[in-house]
Amino acid sequence: MAELKKPRIGIVGIGNISGIYLKNLTGMHSKHVQVTAVTDLIHERAAKANTDYGIPHILKTQDLIESPDVDIILNITQPPDHYGVALAAVKAGKHVYDEKPLCAKREEAQEVLKVATANKVKVGGSPDTFLGAGGQTCRKLLDDGWIGKPVAATAFMANHGHEHWHPGPEFYYKKGGGPMFDMGPYYLTALVNLLGPIARVSGSAKTPIKQRTITSEPLNGTVIDVEVPTTIAGVLDFSSGAVGTIITSFDVYSHTLPFIEIYGTEGTLRVPDPNTFGGPVYVKRYREENWSEIPLLREYKENSRGLGITDLALSIGENRPHRANGEMAYHVLDVMHGIHDASASGSYYDVKSTCTRPEPFSGF
Ligand SMILES: NC(=O)c1ccc[n+]([C@@H]2O[C@H](COP(=O)([O-])OP(=O)(O)OC[C@H]3O[C@@H](n4cnc5c(N)ncnc54)[C@H](O)[C@@H]3O)[C@@H](O)[C@H]2O)c1
Repeated sequence: MAELKKPRIGIVGIGNISGIYLKNLTGMHSKHVQVTAVTDLIHERAAKANTDYGIPHILKTQDLIESPDVDIILNITQPPDHYGVALAAVKAGKHVYDEKPLCAKREEAQEVLKVATANKVKVGGSPDTFLGAGGQTCRKLLDDGWIGKPVAATAFMANHGHEHWHPGPEFYYKKGGGPMFDMGPYYLTALVNLLGPIARVSGSAKTPIKQRTITSEPLNGTVIDVEVPTTIAGVLDFSSGAVGTIITSFDVYSHTLPFIEIYGTEGTLRVPDPNTFGGPVYVKRYREENWSEIPLLREYKENSRGLGITDLALSIGENRPHRANGEMAYHVLDVMHGIHDASASGSYYDVKSTCTRPEPFSGF
């Protein structure tokens, strides 16, 4: 029997995060997908991907999007650029997978999803960390009732921002940036994977530090005017009835808070860092004195970035939904904006979008 042609990926944006995608898509995921083309506004970056990973075609952005050698666009540009690239992709009849957040604005993401539906192509969105061994072990423990019915959840992401390491960190402090839009997708997607969609949110969002100085190279010494809230606390009412809280901050030097905990009628589940694919996972049931570390029950413990787009690619031929999908990524975007909106208006935001919990994942 002739071997089926592997879905072909074209990557737009060969910046900071592209290395791990190139490594994994040409390595651990290459049984299922192939990268046929790359593009970057800075030609040398695309050329390096060609040299380092043997990607055959270096094209201009629109040429890559329209290329007959590309089936799926991997959009790993900065958040404000997600919209333009994703819209061009779905208009050209190509599937698209965006790094997080799906787009900067709700209306942008809505338009991308609408055109994709009209053109019968798929939209996917990061993160895909919830498909890793840690996220899927937690999912199995919850679905198997280890902590009973979940009643509450907490999620904490606090650090001091990215200007001490990222070579071009301004975008983290401009519209579309900030800790909620940057890191919230990992935490909220993990929560949605575990507890389902969110029906109502409230929040408080502040900008305590108005200017930040870059200490990484090559922009060392450059001052950034901060345009977005950098400490945001949100309250989440899940459709299931569970209540959650999320804090994201770029204003914290140190803390002792967990990443995510889920509290159930029969115990507590301690979820690993949702910005990673592995563990550790801990459970403490109500009669137990100590926490137990649960061995990871699934594959993909290491940095497996690219799982989400690989699942999307395989779902096309298998005619099934993909897990890191546009519906869920849009719901997470809506929730993140909702928390900011609630802070600005001083009232709750009834979340207009929803999504279904993605199917559990135990490998391809
Ligand atoms: N840096 C990280 O550690 C990290 C981790 C996880 C997710 N992400 C996400 O990945 C995305 C990219 O982040 P990054 O840190 O790699 O940014 P980056 O600025 O390092 O890279 C973005 C690249 O996209 C290119 N680009 C922009 N518009 C383009 C266009 N129209 N055509 C071709 N190339 C274009 C730029 O020239 C740049 O090289 C963001 O959505 C971010 O949230 C980043």
